[in-house]
Amino acid sequence: MKFLVLALFVAGAYGCGLPTFPPILGRVVGGQDVRPNSWPWQISLQYNSNGEWRHTCGGTLISDQWVLTAAHCISSGREYRVALGKHNLPETEDGSVFKSTANIIVHENWSSLFIRNDIALIKLESPVEFSDSIMAACLPAAGFLLPHNESCFVTGWGRIYTGGPIADILQQALLPVVDHATCSKSDWWGFQVTETMVCAGGDGVVSGCNGDSGGPLNCQAADGSWEVHGIVSFGSGLSCNYPKKPTVFTQVSSYIDWISNKMASY
Ligand SMILES: *[C@@H]1O[C@H](CO)[C@@H](O)[C@H](O)[C@H]1NC(C)=O
Ligand SMILES: *[C@@H]1O[C@H](CO)[C@@H](O)[C@H](O)[C@H]1NC(C)=O
Repeated sequence: MKFLVLALFVAGAYGCGLPTFPPILGRVVGGQDVRPNSWPWQISLQYNSNGEWRHTCGGTLISDQWVLTAAHCISSGREYRVALGKHNLPETEDGSVFKSTANIIVHENWSSLFIRNDIALIKLESPVEFSDSIMAACLPAAGFLLPHNESCFVTGWGRIYTGGPIADILQQALLPVVDHATCSKSDWWGFQVTETMVCAGGDGVVSGCNGDSGGPLNCQAADGSWEVHGIVSFGSGLSCNYPKKPTVFTQVSSYIDWISNKMASY
């Protein structure tokens, strides 16, 4: 009984998708600094470049030992680490943790030519302790499709406007979802967008940029918890916020079985 109560308390305190410090959901155009620790599942994927760790992509913590990111973020032969609980990337911060990786699993059918199945899982060398600054996001239900114009948020340290610098402080931007019927129109993304991708943004004003690759498209469920519905995959090469060229995400709800299978077998 005592154990049960304790277990419930732990799950309640650090279940998925409910930050201790909830995000402040502004409608600022082009992105804004986030409230510290309000997206505690956001990670920075870093690689070793001659002894120096460099941010290369974002990612999402989905359990105490697993991170979701994009396949195109992974180059074989590179050494990676995961920075968790970060707010200001170059600063030394209390509550942040760096973890080596035990396994990196890229989707079997990842195609860099057609940008299909742009999804990878990273198993951390050991489980991370959840805290106010480190927490997992929830996964959506298998097959769930976001409604058109749903308000979701992209987060990352990547460039938030064309040619802009990599941000020191984590950024968030509101990105309304564009449904498949619209996004696959010939003057939008056409056949380049499949039913296992989700589009968001594309109004020519607000959009994620390449530096946000691998990071989450965060959408709030009816019960208030945050779910990771997308993994930043690609955007327009012309600019970050070209009209009718929304940011394209790998649709997480299409890969729930793949994710569960890998998490169970590594
Ligand atoms: C990869 O593609 C092949 C051929 O289309 C298919 O049989 C297989 O199930 C796919 N693998 C995954 C993990 O989706
Ligand atoms: C999209 O949603 C926003 C608020 O979330 C609303 O103001 C706007 O009118 C909606 N646009 C369309 C085309 O439905």
